[in-house]
Amino acid sequence: MASRQQDSDKRAVLVVDDEAGMCEVLSYILGREGFNVETAAHAEEALEAFDRRCFDVTITDLRMPGAGGIELLRRIKDRDPNALVIVITAFSTWDSAVEAMRLGAFDYIKKPFDNEDIRAVVSRAMEVARELSLRGAGDVPAYVRNLIGATQVMQEVHNLIRRVASTDSTILIHGESGTGKELVARAIYNCSSRSEEAFIAVNCGAFTESLLESELFGHMKGAFTGAVSHKKGLLEVAHRGTFFLDEVGEMSRQTQVKFLRVLEEREFMAVGSTETQRVDVRFITATNRDLEKAVADGSFREDLFYRLNVIPIRLPPLRERKEDIPLLAGHFMARYSHQMGKKISGISREAVRFLTDYDWPGNVRELENTIHRAVALSRDSEITPADLVIKMRTGTPASQLMSRELPGDGIDLEESLAQVERTYICQALERTGWNITHAAELLGTSFRSLRYRISKLDIKQEAEA
Ligand SMILES: Nc1ncnc2c1ncn2[C@@H]1O[C@H](COP(=O)(O)OP(=O)(O)OP(=O)(O)O)[C@@H](O)[C@H]1O
Ligand SMILES: [Mg+2]
Repeated sequence: MASRQQDSDKRAVLVVDDEAGMCEVLSYILGREGFNVETAAHAEEALEAFDRRCFDVTITDLRMPGAGGIELLRRIKDRDPNALVIVITAFSTWDSAVEAMRLGAFDYIKKPFDNEDIRAVVSRAMEVARELSLRGAGDVPAYVRNLIGATQVMQEVHNLIRRVASTDSTILIHGESGTGKELVARAIYNCSSRSEEAFIAVNCGAFTESLLESELFGHMKGAFTGAVSHKKGLLEVAHRGTFFLDEVGEMSRQTQVKFLRVLEEREFMAVGSTETQRVDVRFITATNRDLEKAVADGSFREDLFYRLNVIPIRLPPLRERKEDIPLLAGHFMARYSHQMGKKISGISREAVRFLTDYDWPGNVRELENTIHRAVALSRDSEITPADLVIKMRTGTPASQLMSRELPGDGIDLEESLAQVERTYICQALERTGWNITHAAELLGTSFRSLRYRISKLDIKQEAEA
């Protein structure tokens, strides 16, 4: 779960009620107490808000159209068991209030209430929130705080990290580029008994065969042209520590043989030397290639694969765990706004929708870069779609439409482009409730140009409804 600590020092309250009047009254009372108050008209809206940022306390009415207060409480507690939720109950919903307490609501307020009732219960909840955030900072290890992910699959990765960290087993981390392989490798190292010793990372893809060997094993003076002096290999430097071998699938067949020996015997020879050296290292390796396939096609040694794959950790691509996107986005927003000294406290609902609609081929790294840029660009207290770069604004539909193979019998280019244009414009208009100014913003174009295109393509509101 993301840290509760918000960037702004104000404590945050979320008020959920379908009656606008009630939201206003509570915002007024709590605003005067110095809290940062956000409101939501129904449970879905509240959950979206919850995804965008953390609230110290949530106050919800029990009876609302759609999912009621009980369902909302249940879903908030699923996301964060420590969340503090206060329910507002009328005489007619008394049974539900009891149920709410059973489900872990912090307290209830009976209607009608006066300002003092509200102030008292919220201030008690804030006390607890403060305690929780102090405690939270203490007992959650740093690596877990950095490795964000509340989805089941990421929780399993967390558990695995904890279980394997203390062993010396070799680990193979498999995942697409930008999924966090290096972060996981460092997390394992940080929680291992070798955390006081060296962590050496080498990217096999960054070297030619002979350079990689001389990096890993070192070389003797005169071993090859240019070897003017003896050089220690990184394996020796990593003695007693942890060795992270990235893009291990890029290793040549010859280096694979030498490396297999290191894994089996913890022994190697420097290039040009006949003397065997022994090392004590823990290996963590990573790859974005399908090594089993590489074994099948003969480019990767089977015996080496089994030596590496003692404990496999698979990191899923971000598109397979979209529920983590708001959490990650919030985490990066907090990090970069803090770094840049900006007062940004949230990501707009619309922006979150864009982020979750997109497929993130560059995974977490791409999301991180996008938020980094958005924080730099933002002139508001909130990140909005306008702050997100164009490439991502077009998102999945574009990549799907554009990546269509050119059929054998060709296409009508003008017609296909018009189709793409129409698809995006209709989506933008739908999303903004036909607000042309906002739709133009989403499309990165001007009001006039959008109005012109709508009339050129003959897009009509009724037809879309
Ligand atoms: N679960 C996560 N929580 C927070 N930050 C993450 C997470 N996963 C990745 N990151 C961040 O995303 C960036 C990319 O992660 P990392 O370098 O570990 O990916 P990688 O899988 O090693 O990528 P590559 O295959 O391209 O080397 C880093 O800045 C990292 O801190
Ligand atoms: Mg990496």
